[in-house]
Amino acid sequence: MRTQVGIIGAGPAGLLLSHLLHLRGISSVVLERRSRAYVERRVRAGVLEQGTVDTLVEAGVGARLLREGLPHQGIELRYDGQSHRVAFEKLVPGRSITVYGQQEVVKDLIAARLEAGGDVRFEIEDVAAHSLEAEPYLTFGGERLDCDVIAGCDGFHGVSRPSIPPGVLQVFEREYPFAWLGILARVAPSSEELIYARTERGFALHSMRSPTVSRFYLQVPPDAGVDEWPDERIWAELKARLETVPGFTLETGEIFEKGVTPMRAFVAEPMQYGRLYLAGDAAHIVPPTGAKGLNLAVADVRVLTEALDRFFATGSADLLDSYSESCLKRVWRAQHFSWWMTTLLHTFDSDDAYGRRLQLSYLDYVTSSEAAATTLAENYVGLP
Ligand code: APR
Ligand code: PHB
Repeated sequence: MRTQVGIIGAGPAGLLLSHLLHLRGISSVVLERRSRAYVERRVRAGVLEQGTVDTLVEAGVGARLLREGLPHQGIELRYDGQSHRVAFEKLVPGRSITVYGQQEVVKDLIAARLEAGGDVRFEIEDVAAHSLEAEPYLTFGGERLDCDVIAGCDGFHGVSRPSIPPGVLQVFEREYPFAWLGILARVAPSSEELIYARTERGFALHSMRSPTVSRFYLQVPPDAGVDEWPDERIWAELKARLETVPGFTLETGEIFEKGVTPMRAFVAEPMQYGRLYLAGDAAHIVPPTGAKGLNLAVADVRVLTEALDRFFATGSADLLDSYSESCLKRVWRAQHFSWWMTTLLHTFDSDDAYGRRLQLSYLDYVTSSEAAATTLAENYVGLP
């Protein structure tokens, strides 16, 4: 078997890459370890930058996103008994974000690939990448897939990054001393905009998925398990962290999804080796406070698509050679922003009273200085 680009992983990165390549007449095969039902149900993030929305719409996979996605012109920061709005329409005019679940993006991309006759194979559990320096190929289930290029889009726990020889990659990482407990609940959002709340009990986030489904996150200890968080405890804690301003009541409802996500930052450099190119979570992870993970994956894929198009059209590998360098500027900006948002809003056991005052002072600055608020808004909606 032969294809131009062998893609490992059918998350947003792998599926979007396969679709964009198809639009340019470049063939690919996507190999995914999990079942289609599993990847379509896996609940992840939900904030799409303008650039991400534009990419999906231009690629012809944005119809449902435009219909069902929730456009947002601002977010709320809540702390110390006050609400402050970060107004995108004033601070970064013409730029905004859209709330649309990542698994909906995945469903739309799978549907588009299958409709176009794309080769996406699920439940392939033994993919291995070989001969990365020249004439690469993938093996799985006794088959061999020869490719010109391999795209490692298999997330943080995938096989592509570990198939790079030892000593090539430089790894940067930080584990945070807490995790996020995330839930979905059948209840109308209690707020029109996302609420990022900093309290002495820890961070809470009020997000949403639709007019009838709300999404919430709670900062919890790093080793927390969902069993320790029965529904009543979750609602009590969300109320304690969100009902902190006059006139705000949190509506509750049936919780139908619960999960704990560790908080970590990770970057592997360079994002390429020989004919293997890493994209998305396979190369980098950010803590979710800045809502950048999915958007970074889409940005990588845009760069990789241009580079591959040039390579197959002209034989020139110049854009492929500079792929990692082109992506890493945005990756590090997002790393810094995600670290900054995380530090601003979470409680750290290591923090003393002085540290907590510094955090509140910084929040006051961000919510009172237009320059500081613009910095937040510009990074949140995403760099062009
Ligand atoms: N073989 C084949 N597929 C694999 C393998 C493997 N050995 N290991 C992992 N995969 C698959 C996973 O099952 C998953 O479907 O690769 C896919 C990777 O998808 P994601 O983890 O979603 O990563 P990515 O596509 O880079 O998406 C970016 O943004 O919001 C963040 O972390 C969030 O997933 C999100 C990411
Ligand atoms: C989400 O809706 O899942 C979400 C929103 C904002 C974040 C992270 C996740 O910062």
